Amino acid sequence: MSTKEKERKMFVGVVWNCAAELKFLLTALLFLCSLITLLHFLPSRFYFSPSDLANSCLSTPVDHSLSHFNATNSSALPPPPPPPSSLDKDRLLENGVVKRAFNPFGSAAYNFILMSAYRGGYNTFAVMGLASKPLHVYGKPSYLCEWVPFNKNHNSISVTGHKILPDWGYGRVYTVLVINCTFPVPVGDDGGKLLIHAATNGGGDTKLNTTDTFEALTETGEDFINFTSTFKSPPKYDFLYCGSSLYGNLSPQRVREWLAFHVRLFGEKSHFVIHDAGGVHEGVMEVLKPWMDKGYVTLQDIRDQERFDGYYHNQFLIVNDCLHRYKFQAKWMFFFDVDEFIFVPKKSTIKSVVDSLADYTQFTIEQMPMSNKLCLSEDRGKSYRKWGFEKLVYKDVKRGIRRDRKYAVQPRNVIATGVHMSQNTVGKTTHKTEGRIKYFHYHGTIAERREPCRQLVNATSITVDGTPYIVDTTMRDIAATVKRFELKMIGSTLQRTRQ
Ligand SMILES: *[C@@H]1O[C@H](CO)[C@@H](O)[C@H](O)[C@H]1NC(C)=O
Ligand SMILES: *[C@@H]1O[C@H](CO)[C@@H](O)[C@H](O)[C@H]1NC(C)=O
Ligand SMILES: *[C@@H]1O[C@H](CO)[C@@H](O)[C@H](O)[C@H]1NC(C)=O
Ligand SMILES: *[C@@H]1O[C@H](CO)[C@@H](O)[C@H](O)[C@H]1NC(C)=O
Ligand SMILES: *[C@@H]1O[C@H](CO)[C@@H](O)[C@H](O)[C@H]1NC(C)=O
Ligand SMILES: *[C@@H]1O[C@H](CO)[C@@H](O)[C@H](O)[C@H]1NC(C)=O
Repeated sequence: MSTKEKERKMFVGVVWNCAAELKFLLTALLFLCSLITLLHFLPSRFYFSPSDLANSCLSTPVDHSLSHFNATNSSALPPPPPPPSSLDKDRLLENGVVKRAFNPFGSAAYNFILMSAYRGGYNTFAVMGLASKPLHVYGKPSYLCEWVPFNKNHNSISVTGHKILPDWGYGRVYTVLVINCTFPVPVGDDGGKLLIHAATNGGGDTKLNTTDTFEALTETGEDFINFTSTFKSPPKYDFLYCGSSLYGNLSPQRVREWLAFHVRLFGEKSHFVIHDAGGVHEGVMEVLKPWMDKGYVTLQDIRDQERFDGYYHNQFLIVNDCLHRYKFQAKWMFFFDVDEFIFVPKKSTIKSVVDSLADYTQFTIEQMPMSNKLCLSEDRGKSYRKWGFEKLVYKDVKRGIRRDRKYAVQPRNVIATGVHMSQNTVGKTTHKTEGRIKYFHYHGTIAERREPCRQLVNATSITVDGTPYIVDTTMRDIAATVKRFELKMIGSTLQRTRQ
């Protein structure tokens, strides 16, 4: 008799007895609830979720759960951990040794949390998600990719998924995982689905090889034709901005300035993908709206990722989703934050700069850190009317500090990406972009809802708390142009925006 059958017998037994005695009914309920936990271990062959069972648990537990349970094919199940009613007990061995027992309950982190999967070519896919971090750090989970054609006359095909962990070990309970499924031949010209078989291979419990199978992507024949046409066409946008997770009490005025500045910089064939991890409150929404209406901005609500404890609102997951989602729609993709402003010298345009770097898959961009509180004394009394990058003109010039860089890529040659650069690219990367492109970083201004000018200075250089600053009016000098641009593009709707 298999373990499963034993369990079933026992389960029926418990249910029978509970009609007679209340305490058995309680036992049955307890058992049902432990089953809910247990269900996390079962493969997706079960077409009901633990919450379904939880619901029936509250109404008519016995009948529902029994018929559900009947419907399964027990011989195909992996060995589940022992239920509480059959706890392993400590035993006294013949040689006088006390053999202690260990009884596992539940599971604390999911094997995999799927965010998205995208086709990356005729034979290749990228699957984005979160996976249990200790499982990856201390175990050797493996992923089998299976393409199942809808046409029953065609065979399915399987290939080992290539694991990429792009988050530099920053994750906590979860780590970001990009699974690259590359089949030896093209798949899916008449529709089908991509299954991932995620096996723990004994990580977590050396006695168990739990395999969770999930459907990562389903494609109709029409989807495939549409992919083909996008794949073959030149990209729709010259520039696509992939924003990382926006979080906190953001200043609508700062976001407004950032958008006007960058829409002007990147131009007509540009698009901005903003990810709301809780930072897009009503005020921020108001400044995004005019640009959304004009087709420049796409807003994605990613608040639900917050349930899963990864690194900084799962930003590594979000940027990888954005990379693969828009891979064929943009010639260049930029990755930086909303308190950072890209700048190219007057003699050039952003277009001429990227054209000069066209041989590279990736280039990184040098940072100009700006003070978030020093302003000019000539702005006294009128600083509140000035834009952030107009009034914050003191540049931190401390030497010998390694500063973060930001980057841009030609996405077709990128397999996975990070926040400060991508380490999974095909083709060259260059860091020698000095004099061609840089970014001004106004750290700590975006999540501040009050006037940033705290100290007014009448000097071209000053040292505050050991940090030397000099005046740099590069950004201040283009403020008027940016304001005119905004007015021309969306009218005066945002004139009364608040800090
Ligand atoms: C469940 O199993 C019992 C006994 O094995 C059988 O009599 C009953 O018809 C089954 N019910 C369903 C829904 O398969
Ligand atoms: C149960 O699953 C096994 C292995 O997947 C299969 O061989 C068998 O035919 C299935 N039985 C039923 C009744 O579906
Ligand atoms: C998967 O990796 C291969 C190379 O290892 C690459 O050619 C392919 O584009 C990648 N697929 C995706 C969807 O990124
Ligand atoms: C675990 O199961 C998967 C398939 O479900 C298999 O590919 C893998 O080799 C197994 N691992 C071990 C250690 O048995
Ligand atoms: C495929 O593209 C056509 C034309 O752009 C569009 O109308 C259709 O909805 C797309 N189909 C799917 C399944 O996305
Ligand atoms: C700045 O200093 C100069 C010379 O010390 C002085 O003439 C000027 O009035 C000062 N400006 C402000 C705004 O305080």
